[in-house]
Amino acid sequence: MSLSQRAQSISLSVTLALDARAKALADAGRDIVNMSVGEPDFPAPAIVQQAASRRVLSGDVRYTPAAGARALRKAIGEHAAAVRGIAPYAVEEVTVCHSTKHALSGAVLALVDPGDEVLLILPAWVSYVEIVRIGGGVPVSVPSRADCGPDFDAIERAITPRTKAVLYNSPSNPTGYVWTHDEVRALASLCERHGLWILSDEIYRRLVYDGEPNLSPATLSPALRERTIVLDGASKSLAMTGYRIGFAAGPREVTSAIERLHSHLTGAPNTISQDGYLAALSGPEPVEIEHMCAEFDRRRRWLIDALRDMGLSAPWPRGAFYAFPDVRAYLDERGTRGLCEDVLEQVDLALVPGTAFGVDTHVRLSYALSLERIQLAAERLRRFLERHPRRATALAVAQRA
Ligand SMILES: Cc1ncc(COP(=O)(O)O)c(C=O)c1O
Repeated sequence: MSLSQRAQSISLSVTLALDARAKALADAGRDIVNMSVGEPDFPAPAIVQQAASRRVLSGDVRYTPAAGARALRKAIGEHAAAVRGIAPYAVEEVTVCHSTKHALSGAVLALVDPGDEVLLILPAWVSYVEIVRIGGGVPVSVPSRADCGPDFDAIERAITPRTKAVLYNSPSNPTGYVWTHDEVRALASLCERHGLWILSDEIYRRLVYDGEPNLSPATLSPALRERTIVLDGASKSLAMTGYRIGFAAGPREVTSAIERLHSHLTGAPNTISQDGYLAALSGPEPVEIEHMCAEFDRRRRWLIDALRDMGLSAPWPRGAFYAFPDVRAYLDERGTRGLCEDVLEQVDLALVPGTAFGVDTHVRLSYALSLERIQLAAERLRRFLERHPRRATALAVAQRA
């Protein structure tokens, strides 16, 4: 059998092997604390559950238009703009998708020609590289500063005549870094100067716990709104991961191109989930969300303190639900993947190696699990680190940097 070159060039997520191993150990009766999770451990708000159930029980579950039901597009256009402080997006400027991932892949397919370069600011979410590749584009990695913030000299240096777009993600998965407003302005002016699209993955927008709220480049000027595709959805901000619903908002030429592509590739988004999402957007924010954010904040503070207390340096994550400590001092030649394997085997704790995000210096810990489990995880990690005195010499650390 000869698979297409496209299929051959796509790799499975590096997290899958570890995840499978963690599940096998759990099946064998071991109490694995899984800090690799990428989804809120809260149910979807009651209003969402009720609206989705009503649709199922009505028996009237049919296709909607490929870009989503008009009422939902309108609600998204108003809500997405209101929370970002700008004039509403018109219905035609919104395409409802099966998820944010689907919105992002639609935007890449709509904008990127074979050979076009897309800048990914490392560490970057695991699927960006592959989505750009599937679209025929060339992912170009750009390193960040030590505190995980953007390095504008590195971004400038990475731009070539083939650069088409920058993939911007704030709050970031995996670092939790939230770009300052000055940084967003600097990126925006750089993109204007070089004529680049901004693919703005704002899926963690709601999950910011201190300091300035997240700023979307689309809000900076009408011209920037015209070169920014806002990609967002219900998975994280509304704890609706399994509903699979999201959207792209931006200039209508792009949103209608995404609609045309999706009309052939996937058809209309799930009708039941559209109803759930519409219910969540139609009134005041569901009360459960404030509670979820407060709980994430409490866990975040506890976990970062605990990591620092173990001697790990962890950038302060203002958003999302991840901590990203530097583990270079504990690495051998197998890098972060080997470290995560050892942590799993020896102390029953599942973490994600930095290689999943393009860097082999840090590991990701999700705090989307109860504080009690987080405390158990910290105890186990501390035990592991105490058994493994720092191995790295200054030279090894420098080589890996
Ligand atoms: C940065 C980022 N973008 C997009 C997604 C995908 O979200 P969705 O569930 O809406 O596809 C994730 C999920 O983990 C993510 O972390």
